[in-house]
Amino acid sequence: MFKLSLYKMDMKKIVFATNNSHKLTELRQMLGDRYEILGLADIGCHEDIPETASVIEGNARMKAQYVKEHYGYDCFSDDTGLEIDALNGEPGVYSARYAGPGHDSEANIDKVLSKLEGVTNRTARFRTAIALLQGDEMHLFEGQVEGVILTERHGTGGFGYDSIFQPLEGDGLTFAQMPPEEKNRISHRGRAVARLVAYLSGNE
Ligand code: IMP
Repeated sequence: MFKLSLYKMDMKKIVFATNNSHKLTELRQMLGDRYEILGLADIGCHEDIPETASVIEGNARMKAQYVKEHYGYDCFSDDTGLEIDALNGEPGVYSARYAGPGHDSEANIDKVLSKLEGVTNRTARFRTAIALLQGDEMHLFEGQVEGVILTERHGTGGFGYDSIFQPLEGDGLTFAQMPPEEKNRISHRGRAVARLVAYLSGNE
């Protein structure tokens, strides 16, 4: 126990501005013992961090800056959007709340499907931006995956818009039909995280 705490004292602390325990576990596994990754709850941050930018990169930067300013830690933060070409990039930065406040993912999907009724161009992409603030240096990492929006839901796995998004490189399956490892291998977030991890590990 004592040994473990001494060892932890040597690790650089960095905050991942999220309360999502799945995201935290994934990052901890990928970064191994190079960094101690703290979540928002670990630093006592329980308030809603403003996310009022008009693009995902802006929101990611805003969250990282907020943590640095209020808590003093180096920090990284992610933001993701689904961009549908026939809807001029909607829902984009509004992906989480497309059907309005208080609505869930099912309502968001219903809104997308009804807006795309009769539309033949179904191309879309997920894009993730990760902003890393170390000292006063800001770095941005991006990941994206191209695909199409189907006319109905397929599969029960995943979350958000997974059941209507079929990536071009996914053997005809939606994200909701794939095993999680397969989704992570080709997904927007998986790719952005891989770039962040390569950078933090000194390989980029
Ligand atoms: P966040 O920035 O990771 O919170 O993502 C914002 C919103 O985008 C989520 O609330 C979901 O609606 C959607 N989203 C993000 N990542 C995914 C994904 O991997 N699959 C499906 N929907 C996603």
